[in-house]
Amino acid sequence: MYRTKTCGELRAANVGEIVTIAGWVDSARDHSGVFFVNVRDRYGKTQTVFDAAADAALFELVKTLRNEDVVQITGEVLARPEGLVNPNMSTGEIELKATKLVVLNRSEPVPFLPSAPEIPSEETRLKYRYIDLRRPEMQRVLTLRHRITKTLRDYFDENDFLEVETPILGKSTPEGARDYLVPSRVTQGAFYALPQSPQLYKQLLMIAGYDRYVQVARCFRDEDLRADRQPEFTQLDVEMSFVEMEDVIDIVSKLVQRLMKEVKGVDIPLPLPRITYDEAMERFGHDAPDLRFGMELKDVTDIAKTVDFKVFRSVAESGGRVRGINVKNAADKFSRKDIDGLTAWTGEQFGAKGIVWFKVDAQGVLTGSSAKNFSAEALEAIGKKLEVEPNDLLLFSCGDFNLTCRVLNGLRRRLAAQLKLYDPDEMNFCWVVKFPMFHWDEEENRWVAEHHPFTAPLVEDLPKLDGGPEEISAIRAQAYDLVLNGFEAGGGTIRIHDPNIQNKVFGLLGMTREQAKEQFGFLVDALQFGAPPHGGLALGLDRVVMLFAGIDNIRDCIAFPKTTKASDLMTGAPAEVEKKQLDELAIKSTVVKEEPKP
Ligand code: AMO
Repeated sequence: MYRTKTCGELRAANVGEIVTIAGWVDSARDHSGVFFVNVRDRYGKTQTVFDAAADAALFELVKTLRNEDVVQITGEVLARPEGLVNPNMSTGEIELKATKLVVLNRSEPVPFLPSAPEIPSEETRLKYRYIDLRRPEMQRVLTLRHRITKTLRDYFDENDFLEVETPILGKSTPEGARDYLVPSRVTQGAFYALPQSPQLYKQLLMIAGYDRYVQVARCFRDEDLRADRQPEFTQLDVEMSFVEMEDVIDIVSKLVQRLMKEVKGVDIPLPLPRITYDEAMERFGHDAPDLRFGMELKDVTDIAKTVDFKVFRSVAESGGRVRGINVKNAADKFSRKDIDGLTAWTGEQFGAKGIVWFKVDAQGVLTGSSAKNFSAEALEAIGKKLEVEPNDLLLFSCGDFNLTCRVLNGLRRRLAAQLKLYDPDEMNFCWVVKFPMFHWDEEENRWVAEHHPFTAPLVEDLPKLDGGPEEISAIRAQAYDLVLNGFEAGGGTIRIHDPNIQNKVFGLLGMTREQAKEQFGFLVDALQFGAPPHGGLALGLDRVVMLFAGIDNIRDCIAFPKTTKASDLMTGAPAEVEKKQLDELAIKSTVVKEEPKP
């Protein structure tokens, strides 16, 4: 046996026992004649002591130890003398008086020490990920990830769900991102697509009668990456038959409750709050609203129509919107220069042409460089709408609805973080429902599905499928998103199982049945052979772990993630392959490589 105890296990109750531990040298220090070695494994650290007077040969050996060497140490567990107990260490009551040391392996000098307080650059961490994963914080997050996954699996198992694996090499799925393609050697010129989600397969499983399906599923999307996106990520994927939207929301809400209890030890009441898409966009400017703080968007378009201030008035009169937020009690925290900085940021990030701002003086009157263009009545009306008090800062955006959403949502989130308007430990869940079904794509000059083309419209909106553009744009989908702290944690829909409705939707999307068959032939066929009413949802597991762990970078909750450029700094993927491999696939690269300079 390499070890009889882990490095996190020994307590005062073990005093007197002879034990063997194994792990990495976390620190080694010489105190003239006494050598202390802290040995670390994933369970913790144990202090071991080597005494020169007790065993000179052993002492010579221990002096050769370097950080991250792998060792096995046997000795007697001693109570630490009074005053030397370390309350910051789980094993701080004891130390191991070493009688035997085996150096299992030596380590080269490491690029960084796992227990050093300063965290190296992300590039270094990703390049040496196996060292980075030795850091306690990474171990905490991966352990949490395991607990979350286990809780999910247990919960669905108890509720009669079957976990079924679906193919990785498949056909393009309708999630809307770019596919990762895998060339076929056997059928040259043909490609598999890696699944963007198991969407089509899980619907086939419903048709096959597996009425409760779940899978911890790998998904692949070649899209622009952000802090909360990875090209290769994991979904907790769910599909159910003979259900309506409320059934799916119910089963997932109870899952959330269970996760909060088991992972955070917190009881949360159900039902979770619910907000419609329209309300979310109106009040927060985003379909994944962060409800941990106020600073809601307020509309002053009507007032803007009456003012001399051209910027507001022309937008208001031409069908645009003028909206603003009230940053409470913040006027004295933002100088003119700070506000210019915010304005420049909204320009770069969201294409805003400017921000109009006011500060509220001690008498409750709106002041600011634009104020002179407003009558006293207009200023008062704006102040009333935004419920101002002295020292409030008001920021306005005007333009089309979507622009004001982007700008004010961006400002709202940024300022709330900056002014610490929420408790970072709070876990705030809500459901967003009644999403639009289609939007008009100006470039393609056609309707595009907001979700995938198998999403069912709300029953009350079905008649609008036969209406004109206005009615079609007002059709809402049986779609629902689970939002956590302003992030979309998951989303799903009820699917169409009625071929008449499906044909109408294909038609609206400008797809003939033949074209639909070409793209999703097997599913279109299968839907004709007794498809039950069904629907489901997928949670972004990486995002859920990120939020439960209280971190803001998705890469930190994945053992071996990719950078924002979709590369793996450790393995060097993606990488070139040998010409022979390409020849077998009948693939020729058109990338012209620069000749090395002589
Ligand atoms: P959707 O595309 O909304 O739905 O994805 C579901 C959830 O997956 C997470 N997610 C991601 N996480 C990390 N990196 C990414 N690139 C990424 N893309 C998505 C999000 C998102 O909410 N088949 C449907 C589900 C259904 O209808 O049942 C689907 O995939 O948290």
